[in-house]
Amino acid sequence: MTSTVITGVGELTTNTDDPGTFTGAALVLDGDRVVWVGPETRAPEADTRVDVEGRAVLPGWVDSHTHLLFAGDRTSEFAARMAGRPYRAGGIAVTVDATRQASEAELAENLRRHVAEATAQGTTCIETKTGYGLTVADELRAAKIAATEVDEVTFLGAHLVPPGEDTDDYVDLVCGDMLDALAPHVGWCDVFCEQGAFDADRSGRVLRAAAERGLGLRVHGNQLGAGPGVRLATELGAASVDHCTHLDGSDVEALAESDTVATLLPACDLSTRQPLPDARALLDAGATVALASNCNPGSSYTSSMAFCVTTAVLQMRMSIDEAIRAATWGGARALRREEGDGAVGVLRPGARADVHVLDAPSAAWLAYRPGVPLTHSVWRAGHRVRRG
Ligand code: NIG
Repeated sequence: MTSTVITGVGELTTNTDDPGTFTGAALVLDGDRVVWVGPETRAPEADTRVDVEGRAVLPGWVDSHTHLLFAGDRTSEFAARMAGRPYRAGGIAVTVDATRQASEAELAENLRRHVAEATAQGTTCIETKTGYGLTVADELRAAKIAATEVDEVTFLGAHLVPPGEDTDDYVDLVCGDMLDALAPHVGWCDVFCEQGAFDADRSGRVLRAAAERGLGLRVHGNQLGAGPGVRLATELGAASVDHCTHLDGSDVEALAESDTVATLLPACDLSTRQPLPDARALLDAGATVALASNCNPGSSYTSSMAFCVTTAVLQMRMSIDEAIRAATWGGARALRREEGDGAVGVLRPGARADVHVLDAPSAAWLAYRPGVPLTHSVWRAGHRVRRG
């Protein structure tokens, strides 16, 4: 692989300093790594020079929460919601049926298509979850397919109790045979801790069983109402608690005092007619915030991280710097990939060469020009995967 120097950068966001944006900068990629960042006047030679002609450059988006192992769609459920019907966890069962009936090739193709869609919009690191299989065989199939395509795979057997099954029997299965089968193929375990899904005791059981097998923990918490998700996640040292739509003061405090990232999913809140999360309270208290798409066919059918950033700035009182950082460094932190060799969500020597060039002079245009597709070029691990 050859080296590339990127010049003509209008504004460079590195996430290495506060605020971490620079003008007159250049960067050099060699193989799959960033090897140099500094003033263009001192940029070393490289095999190829790419002049981005005044455009803004930032780390690729890190989408730390998606559910891309699915078949079918839920358009009619969405339409009913827009007509006033509330979102319910039970809708997951519709996608479980469709996913179980799909062939392995169909699921793999669906995943590839959604990952390609995200990459074309600047997403260069992506997590995805199982959770639409809910049998040992179907969950295992999903995890194996996911591992071929995405950066991080999460086991979400505790997404919903399959209709007709006894809750405690199902939790026994998840904590036993399912985790035994899945643990070698995934890095993370997640639970949907919510009314209509899993209560705090059962969620805790699943998470402890996963931790015993060496998996990192994540929690879907406080999505549809106040609840124990945040408390559980912070007590068990989960890397992130995702949704955080309904928080009280003690939840905010617990997050601020913990290493657990609050991952906010604004596209989901809009699509389910929930309030938007109080990002300001979390940031002002000192919590670490990530933004992610939650791309899935039920509650948030978008892969657009730009849409999440735009919403965060226009409607959640996050500054553009906070929103960009949350959608890059914050996602990386939620996946524990923000440090060390091959880090993502940052642009510095040693980081993975994941670069997003905007067709705009500054990242502020993501909010200034809402809804306009602004991705110009994308490099992922040093490969130019989109050319403006
Ligand atoms: O994060 N909340 C649980 N899981 C997904 C929704 C899944 C679905 O409705 O199919 C979410 O929103």
